Amino acid sequence: MTSEDTFKKIIAHCKEYGFIFPSSEIYDGLGAVYDYGQAGVELKNNIKKYWWDAMILLHDNIVGIDSAIFMHPTVWKASGHVDAFNDPLIDNKDSKKRYRADVLLEEHIRKIEDKLSKEVGKAAKRFGDAFDEKKFLDTNQRALEYRQQAGHIRDRMNDALQRDDFDALRQLIIDCEIACPVSGTRNWTEVRQFNLMFATEMGSTADGALKVYLRPETAQGIFVNYLNVQKTGRMKIPFGIAQIGKAFRNEIVARQFIFRMREFEQMEMQFFVPPGTELQWYEKWKEKRMNWHKALQLGDEKYRFHQHEKLAHYANAASDIEFAFPFGFKELEGIHSRTDFDLSQHQKYSGKKIRYFDPEHNESYTPFVIETSIGLDRMFLSIISNAYTEETLTKEDGSADERVVMRIPPALAPVKLAVLPLVKKDGLPEKAVEIKNRLKFEFNCQYDEKDSIGKRYRRQDAIGTPYCITVDHQTLDNDTVTVRHRDTMKQERVKTGQLPEIIAGKVSLKSLLEKLG
Ligand code: GAP
Repeated sequence: MTSEDTFKKIIAHCKEYGFIFPSSEIYDGLGAVYDYGQAGVELKNNIKKYWWDAMILLHDNIVGIDSAIFMHPTVWKASGHVDAFNDPLIDNKDSKKRYRADVLLEEHIRKIEDKLSKEVGKAAKRFGDAFDEKKFLDTNQRALEYRQQAGHIRDRMNDALQRDDFDALRQLIIDCEIACPVSGTRNWTEVRQFNLMFATEMGSTADGALKVYLRPETAQGIFVNYLNVQKTGRMKIPFGIAQIGKAFRNEIVARQFIFRMREFEQMEMQFFVPPGTELQWYEKWKEKRMNWHKALQLGDEKYRFHQHEKLAHYANAASDIEFAFPFGFKELEGIHSRTDFDLSQHQKYSGKKIRYFDPEHNESYTPFVIETSIGLDRMFLSIISNAYTEETLTKEDGSADERVVMRIPPALAPVKLAVLPLVKKDGLPEKAVEIKNRLKFEFNCQYDEKDSIGKRYRRQDAIGTPYCITVDHQTLDNDTVTVRHRDTMKQERVKTGQLPEIIAGKVSLKSLLEKLG
């Protein structure tokens, strides 16, 4: 099965089991906008809580806010979004399809790199244990050609993007002989800039409506509240402000399910530090954020850093944490050293003094900022795509059976346990409901009595429930139940009184947070 097939199955599974639905589906959906269903919203809330608690509970010097989506329009002028939050777009004249010029080129480079990987794979097979990959890449004629080709295109693209030279970008697309995937032709328009912000109007037109934007990042809500929080919270630098909230971007290349959406959620933290110390803090936050991801135990090899070569004009260092999604390693989170750009800009545009007075050194300065910015939906996708597992099982009679199990980290699982009466009679449902009613104050529980016990286990596996508690006739005699573990499917018999401790041991966020210190 190709990774593309797996990805399609994950998307179908998300819909079938109430994780994610296309928005307004009865009207055929809306491009790159999605709704979270009954299982999805629980998983999403658990991810938010894991992030929020890791920021707020584990750091005495980080506090949270929740700022409005609408902000004064000058905010976006000051931040540079009105003038520079653009994508370079190109249209194919025959298919009338619109593409991001840099994405067309990136995909072309990826195809060359795929060819290179195939050559490496073939050589590795041929030479076996004696294979030296570095030597092969440095000496094999074909490998050298592919590397050179990809490097040359990337350099030309970065150079054109850096200089905003759209003619050069178009010329590169023509030189690479890139054809439109729909029409197959190379009949391209000029490259044009397209602003990604959604605009709307506030107030009635008679009063003179104000053009406002749906925020494209949550960060600016933090910057404009820097003074409020610093003063009212009596915060001493270094300190951070965290926020979770919706962001909106009119993405042109919106695809890969919830990877690139038009309405999405961000979890951002701005950490304010003295000028000159920012690169030390940048390294610290890179490490902290990587540890946060790895504590989930999806596999350390699934993450890697990608350092930005082309820096935004306001940054003096930037890295992404990339995750191995089914469609390859892609950005999951950004860690940026944003200098004093944003606060200085807001000082300039608002005319308000935005500085910090350091009483110890008796000096005042504009703080520098390290930002950690992660897309909640992308984080959701990393969990869900890693969790999806198809298993072939052998039944007691020797025949084969299949199950799909979502191996979601237990602390993030939407439902923590299901209480299931073995049969729908003999007082078992009543006993099961009683047990569920005791546990529901601590854990998200489900009660299910419909269909055979095997079918009910499968339903819980499909949403990633770590524990199934089965109530049988023995329960009525000695107050014991069987506990079935999702991943191993092993069952153990325990006293009902032991359940809270057993379940909490595995599903509480506490053990995850403790790993982070
Ligand atoms: N304040 C900095 C900022 O917004 P960004 O790299 O544009 O930086 C940060 O976005 C994170 O937000 C990304 O790493 C990604 O996880 C998420 N993100 C960005 N655009 C997105 C989109 N269209 N759909 C889903 N997530 C997105």
